[in-house]
Amino acid sequence: MTMFCSKIAGIGKHVPENVVTNFDLEKMMDTSNEWILERTGIQERRFVTQPCGAAELALPACLEAISNAGISKNDIDYIIVATTTPEHLFPGTSSFLHALLEIPNIPILDIRVQCSGFIYGLSIADSYIKSGQYQNILLVGVEVQSVGLNLTTAGRDLAVLFGDGAGAAVISRATDESKILSIHLSGDGRFAKELWMDAPVGYEMPRISTEMLEQGRHFPRMNGRQVFKHAIIKFPEIVITALTANNWSREDVDLVVPHQANLRITEAITKRLELPPEKVYSNIHKYGNTTAASIPLALADACEEKKLKKGSKVVLAAFGSGFTWAAAALIW
Ligand code: ACO
Repeated sequence: MTMFCSKIAGIGKHVPENVVTNFDLEKMMDTSNEWILERTGIQERRFVTQPCGAAELALPACLEAISNAGISKNDIDYIIVATTTPEHLFPGTSSFLHALLEIPNIPILDIRVQCSGFIYGLSIADSYIKSGQYQNILLVGVEVQSVGLNLTTAGRDLAVLFGDGAGAAVISRATDESKILSIHLSGDGRFAKELWMDAPVGYEMPRISTEMLEQGRHFPRMNGRQVFKHAIIKFPEIVITALTANNWSREDVDLVVPHQANLRITEAITKRLELPPEKVYSNIHKYGNTTAASIPLALADACEEKKLKKGSKVVLAAFGSGFTWAAAALIW
């Protein structure tokens, strides 16, 4: 069987216009700009202001990625969407996105691995392109998290972290030096409830009840210290796996683009990896943690800021709920 290589052929992003600063959050809950900034590095995030599903938020990012890839939307032959915040339990956001794109019938797939979703999706797209089965795959990371957060003091530990946003990439067959070199995935379900949303619950009758709502079981919950402890170990571990797999030294890498979890996590992994801070990309101050959208959003911003150039050696890395973690090494 002929084996091809894949590459990120085009990237796009879209965030809601509405900027919510830490000072805005101070008006909703008992928190402070100092607390948020010191512990997370976040200054502001974007929240949707009117009903807007994940597919709707992702659409402009997809159109930008398709245009940047130099193809037409009808050339897309597969859609993969990574999101933690779909419009509905079923069908997936990819169905709604496909309808909005108004393109011919193609396979559509949602994946649910939270912050690692973009890299897991990249591994699926990469395998299809490598096998020659598909040519141009639209890979989307999108989150509309604001509508599901507890924006009161009771939910402040999580509410201050997350934001809405979308990033999209077209993954196509590599024709020159740009290519995905390796992808590394892992997970440990024993920690599933360290960062999770309990309700609606698939094994309770009914799935959703007024009691659940009263108890706040429909809000995401997090054991922040456990997340931090594991993130600062697993992030560097999987980056080193990616470097080793490609015989890259730390000096070889032009840019590490980590999932934007929290600036303190990014700083801790930068230190553990002994990388200069300018080699580890961060834009969390602008958007907060946008879960599955954060890596493609970061790639789009890094391109705009000229931190990513053709031929750059890049490592993507993620860690998040599940727990899941992942990395990819690629030539931009
Ligand atoms: N504003 C003000 N006070 C707050 C807030 C807030 N938004 N949230 C929590 N607090 C309070 C707590 O109630 C607690 O008060 P208490 O001591 O009176 O009980 C106190 O702040 C805890 O403060 P710290 O001791 O500084 O907390 P800690 O050092 O554990 O840091 C934090 C908390 C920032 C959440 C830390 O655990 C962390 O960074 N965890 C990682 C979480 C994360 O980044 N998740 C991202 C999502 S997962 C991912 O993307 C990988």
